[in-house]
Amino acid sequence: MSFVRLRRLRRNQQIRDLISQTQLSVKDLIMPYFVIEGRNKRESIASMPGLYHLSVNNLIEDIREAKRLGIKAILLFGVSQKKDGMGLESYRKNGIMQKAIKAIKKNIKDIVIITDVCLCGYTSHGHCGVLKTQDTIIDNDETLKILAKIALSHAEAGVDFVAPSAMMDGQVRAIRETLDRKGFRDVGIIAYSAKYASNFYGPFREALDSCPQFGDRKSYQLDFRNQDEALREIKQDIDEGADIIMVKPALAYLDVIYRAKQNFHIPIACYNVSGEYSLVKIASQEGIFNEKDTVLEILTSFKRAGANLIITYHAKEVARWLKD
Ligand code: PBG
Repeated sequence: MSFVRLRRLRRNQQIRDLISQTQLSVKDLIMPYFVIEGRNKRESIASMPGLYHLSVNNLIEDIREAKRLGIKAILLFGVSQKKDGMGLESYRKNGIMQKAIKAIKKNIKDIVIITDVCLCGYTSHGHCGVLKTQDTIIDNDETLKILAKIALSHAEAGVDFVAPSAMMDGQVRAIRETLDRKGFRDVGIIAYSAKYASNFYGPFREALDSCPQFGDRKSYQLDFRNQDEALREIKQDIDEGADIIMVKPALAYLDVIYRAKQNFHIPIACYNVSGEYSLVKIASQEGIFNEKDTVLEILTSFKRAGANLIITYHAKEVARWLKD
């Protein structure tokens, strides 16, 4: 058996396209957004060139543009100045997320809204859960109650999917039960199931002002030396009612995406996180990478590994490139 002829034939672009196995499409992409209070605000995020904190009216405009480019889904993060020990602002009826969801629903048809459900942007200590009294230990079960309240407040505002990212044990079940009990059976859950304690979240924490004030997140996020426990977490989230599962970050975790795909028959999302974005973006601005070619290679590798959906800050640019 010889592949010499095929290697020669591959000099032809049409033939290369014909035998290509992986197709990246705009429908795979989910664009994340950071929404802030105020009007007409569009503030650049220093650690993530090309991205902005947007007030609701500007967010609507930006989503309209994303939609015109063919993007079908967005992931929302609320940036809050009002922080306290319990993260009370996170589930307020008129909090920034709740207002943004309502405004998007009202003004834009047919865009899938996904919201991040976590406490780290709302707690004064910056952890993803509340702490035991006078302690530095996260209170898992108390946090579950609050995560369920956040998810419910998003559902009441009109969200399509909630995406719990706190990595608390039992968070998918707690949210599913509350949503079902309150009549939101059709709100889906995208579970950040395999979320590693990663250095690649650095730029995001600056964008959300959510750096832990003490300690780190290693007690509740996964250890990057381990693969099996990611599969256990995914299995548990599926059993608890997740509709889509996620691996995060993506680029340094292609093996985890691949194994998830082999083991579970459920849509798999991956999160091309802030650090992965900024590495490529900043190096491209310095002329070290060809941005377009590099980003397309990276995102295609996620699909090759088995991801169905890609959350990426490059989404709008990629959508433009794929149109050309
Ligand atoms: C919240 C959350 C994080 C990200 C998404 N949701 C960060 C963290 O755990 O500190 C990271 C996203 C990114 O880096 O782009 N828990």
